[in-house]
Amino acid sequence: MKVLVALFVLFAAVFNGNLADEDSQARLLASKNILNQYLVENKDLTVEYRIFNIGGSVAQKVRLQDDSFPEADFKVVAGNLQAYWERIAPNTNVSHSVILRPLNFGYFNFTAAEVSYSSGEDLTERQVGYTSAPGEGGIVSFKDYNRRFSPHFVDWMVFAVMTLPSLGIPFLLWFSSKSKYDTTKPKKS
Ligand SMILES: *[C@@H]1O[C@H](CO)[C@@H](O)[C@H](O)[C@H]1NC(C)=O
Ligand SMILES: *[C@@H]1O[C@H](CO)[C@@H](O)[C@H](O)[C@H]1NC(C)=O
Repeated sequence: MKVLVALFVLFAAVFNGNLADEDSQARLLASKNILNQYLVENKDLTVEYRIFNIGGSVAQKVRLQDDSFPEADFKVVAGNLQAYWERIAPNTNVSHSVILRPLNFGYFNFTAAEVSYSSGEDLTERQVGYTSAPGEGGIVSFKDYNRRFSPHFVDWMVFAVMTLPSLGIPFLLWFSSKSKYDTTKPKKS
């Protein structure tokens, strides 16, 4: 009996320890959204990133990097495809946006941006995760947009927007791996 109780106490202590450990980590949720209703060649398009720390401790040296817009297809008009926050406190949101201009028309698969950060004392240990991905969207040609603004054309644009699944879904959970990312890999920035 005594042994059983002792085992239980030990188990509870280990379990609590694990929970406390989990709770004291920073955990980030990140979203990436295209704010425009219509995507048109050569017209500004706004991408918004939001990061929310749902964990129990500060996320440090948080780096957002979006390599998903090829230079041949998009021109940065304002802002930056990278962002950096020294600290994101628990229960805090930060946001970042960039304005791009699509140089071509057609379908484009809007994919996730990468977020990396440190949590806890060892700042060389980096956690890496991803934002939500807006998904595939249709970019209307500038000529079509100007010339053929017919009801049918409007239908097509509405369809294009509906293929961006992340609109209206504020946050998607993203995984975080505990890989020691930055210790071996040189970071381009
Ligand atoms: C952060 O953003 C989320 C999602 O929009 C919201 O639910 C939450 O209340 C916000 N938290 C703070 C502290 O602003
Ligand atoms: C878009 O990209 C994502 C991530 O690379 C991929 O999983 C998905 O299948 C792609 N969608 C389409 C329609 O190509």
